[in-house]
Amino acid sequence: MSTVLLLNGSPHAAGCVATGIEELARTFAAEGVGVERFHIGTRPVRGCVACGACKKNADGKCAFDDDVCNVFTAAMRRCDALIVGSPVYYAGPAGALCALLDRAFYSATDAFAGKPAACFVNCRRGGASAAFDRLNKYFAIVRMPIVTSQYWNSTHGTTPDEVRRDKEGLQTLRTLARQMAHLLNCRERADLPPPTVEPWERTNFIDNV
Ligand SMILES: Cc1cc2nc3c(=O)[nH]c(=O)nc-3n(C[C@H](O)[C@H](O)[C@H](O)COP(=O)(O)O)c2cc1C
Repeated sequence: MSTVLLLNGSPHAAGCVATGIEELARTFAAEGVGVERFHIGTRPVRGCVACGACKKNADGKCAFDDDVCNVFTAAMRRCDALIVGSPVYYAGPAGALCALLDRAFYSATDAFAGKPAACFVNCRRGGASAAFDRLNKYFAIVRMPIVTSQYWNSTHGTTPDEVRRDKEGLQTLRTLARQMAHLLNCRERADLPPPTVEPWERTNFIDNV
């Protein structure tokens, strides 16, 4: 059975994003797909300082081992797919979440590569689409098939009760979970090798670097 890692990028463990996560979890359960929940928490998350240590360490871990980053990437290694939920802050994802994802994707790229992914955002009123686009950038650069739904994935509200009244938002999440479950089941049954990956032609448009 496949397992989807559900990352709550809000500081609130039982807030609006968590309400969306639970809607996803219920739908995955109905579809026979397992989930693992991960909450970013409220403790500080360091930003990437571009030290490059993760590329030199044999274990590929981020050099900062005093926050959630390496714990999160270990969870990602156990799972087959990822859904990231974020509150909208100033029309973008939460800053601590971007700090985490910058370091996790950079240090542990192989834990994410090729695994189906999606995100959803929650906001009171505006900025959902911009935040959604920003999060999808993480997935698109590491060959993660981005699973889509019936709308750009967002829920609306400032309390869990308001989110529960956002019928279309919750339906969008249920559709997303079913779409992802279908893809995971297809991949399990097809039992095909992953696509060939060419060595990276890494250029700054003009020369190899
Ligand atoms: C710093 C900050 C910035 C925010 N910016 C926006 C915004 O740009 N648009 C919006 O509709 N809501 C904004 N909000 C409201 C949050 O998106 C909303 O409270 C959050 O999604 C609730 O989810 P949670 O309970 O899981 O934290 C902001 C809230 C904070 C704390």
